Amino acid sequence: MTVVAIDGPVASGKSTVARRVARRLGYLYLDTGAMYRAVGLLATEAGVPLDDESAVREVAATAHLCFDGDGRLHAGDRDLSGLIRTLEMGTAASIVSTLPDVRRLLVERQRELGRGADVVMEGRDIGTNVFPDAEVKVYLSARPEVRAERRAAEFEAAGAAVDRRQVLTELRERDRRDSRREVAPLCKADDAVEVDSSGLSLEEVVDAVVAIVREKVSA
Ligand code: DC
Repeated sequence: MTVVAIDGPVASGKSTVARRVARRLGYLYLDTGAMYRAVGLLATEAGVPLDDESAVREVAATAHLCFDGDGRLHAGDRDLSGLIRTLEMGTAASIVSTLPDVRRLLVERQRELGRGADVVMEGRDIGTNVFPDAEVKVYLSARPEVRAERRAAEFEAAGAAVDRRQVLTELRERDRRDSRREVAPLCKADDAVEVDSSGLSLEEVVDAVVAIVREKVSA
């Protein structure tokens, strides 16, 4: 069983790349950011303040989060995938992910989901914390301006009005929160291979990551 850990900052292309790599290799794809987003969404819907650690933990503990074969995230039998991909839920996820009790619970769930299968698991702390012994670790990066432009294009494609400066400001803010939080901050694992996607097409990044996996797995 092989775990491919893909970590990196917001809008580095992790989700798209990880999903495609998983499809090419026939591995399961698990998007851990979606789990933090789901907890942010469910807490918001329940009127729970996002910084109330024990209340948010309770939301996470009773959410019954799981992924279907297409990598869509469900809470029980409710498909949340269409609701969590917003700027607001990205910010909510970033806030709830700073709460140690919430992280502990979700990390436990991620280990359960990743155990016993070939998986591509994507997030911020997969190679450093969730699966520190993962066979393959990739750290996907790109310059902030490139990431903000990609994120803005995504929102536009979804029909949303976009203020590019606001997207870049929020992205920098999330970078700061994700890499400065006390528990499991975003950082590159010593044994991760860094792929800077700034000047690469999606296909080139996917090819690079698949090549890294093949090389490690055959070694
Ligand atoms: O990858 P994403 O944008 O869907 O992640 C949303 C937020 O969740 C991100 O700001 C940080 C947090 N997160 C985390 O702390 N640990 C992970 N493994 C994945 C995401």
